[in-house]
Amino acid sequence: MPVITEIEDLRRIYQRRVPKMFYDYCESGSWTEQTFRENESDFDLIRLRQRVAVDMDNRSTASTMIGQDVSLPVALAPVGMTGMQHADGEILAAQAAEEYGVPFTLSTMSICSIEDVAEKTTKPFWFQLYVMRDQDFTRRIIQRAKDAGCSALVLTLDLQILGQRHKDLKNGLSAPPKLTPANIANLATKWGWGMEMLRTPRRQFRNIVGHAEGVGDASSLMAWTAEQFDPSLDWGKVAKIKEMWGGPLILKGILDAEDAKKAAEVGCDAIVVSNHGGRQLDGALSSIRVLPEIVEAVGDKVEIHLDSGIRSGQDVLKALALGARGTYIGRAFIYGLGAMGKQGVTTALDTIRKELDTTMALCGRRNVHELDRDMLLIDQDFHRWRRTT
Ligand SMILES: Cc1cc2nc3c(=O)[nH]c(=O)nc-3n(C[C@H](O)[C@H](O)[C@H](O)COP(=O)(O)O)c2cc1C
Repeated sequence: MPVITEIEDLRRIYQRRVPKMFYDYCESGSWTEQTFRENESDFDLIRLRQRVAVDMDNRSTASTMIGQDVSLPVALAPVGMTGMQHADGEILAAQAAEEYGVPFTLSTMSICSIEDVAEKTTKPFWFQLYVMRDQDFTRRIIQRAKDAGCSALVLTLDLQILGQRHKDLKNGLSAPPKLTPANIANLATKWGWGMEMLRTPRRQFRNIVGHAEGVGDASSLMAWTAEQFDPSLDWGKVAKIKEMWGGPLILKGILDAEDAKKAAEVGCDAIVVSNHGGRQLDGALSSIRVLPEIVEAVGDKVEIHLDSGIRSGQDVLKALALGARGTYIGRAFIYGLGAMGKQGVTTALDTIRKELDTTMALCGRRNVHELDRDMLLIDQDFHRWRRTT
């Protein structure tokens, strides 16, 4: 058993274990990947104030996100094709999250369906919605999420069209992988992954195939997204989805204070400050850089969550200290899942929890509600990018 001390350890094992096509799908951003890189590197522009001789007994990382108790304010982000990173990946990640006491968010573009995950878990999970041109499909999938007892709808607003990721096009990304000579050669070196995949019947987009009119095969994510995702999604449609759902609503993909104000006006339980992990608009600012401006604009009106670039508990602490109530991890849990299944997801969460707890203590704070800007030292460069109008 390898000794795992940081998320990067999981990434390295993950890379060895999972077919290149799916590793590349996860580990890339759009176009030049500038935003993807800066999501991580911008956290380094924030340093911490060390405080001493403060009673550090009885610490806790427990909190709430949209009123739901969490043992750690770190939810699992919706990640498409998780079931290709590891057989039954969505089920395993949902079970790990449930046992750890953090929310799991199932993507519309998952391999395991809403019903598959509901059947194999005992507590409600969150469902992430991509709005489709086919309104009947959208209506039905919202109903399916309600029937499955999902306790929040996470509506993604930053993917009406797909940002181009070069590697996915070059690899011919599909689920299951097409058996081209290059794929066969690569799969031959991933027998552990392949054996598990052979044992599960879940190898297609099961939320979609058989549920969307005329879709018998959604194997190519790119082609399907181009055809089906609704490019006309606007605030009016967001209000209609809110009404259709009628439960706790989280709006994901907000990266601008003006949009944050609109989201607060439409009415939602939380917004996620996110650039989709650098996978959509390359050249956009990192999430952590825009967080203070958004907190200033709507912090008193709506709960604020953040994702994109979180690879450690210190990153979580910085986001919370800047005003986020909760955070999400995407790649960090996928590394764990791909590396060692359910246990890997638990290890990812535990690694982050320990880092958060120790950092909190060394900064002189005992629980996540005490985290604030006073404990941070921020590089002057952090506020470098300004609008010119
Ligand atoms: C491989 C992959 C697939 C993703 N699929 C979805 C998706 O289906 N729906 C969605 O709203 N976000 C999706 N995202 C974005 C994540 O929800 C989240 O915003 C992002 O991963 C956060 O950045 P991080 O990976 O640096 O933590 C995906 C991200 C990755 C890495």
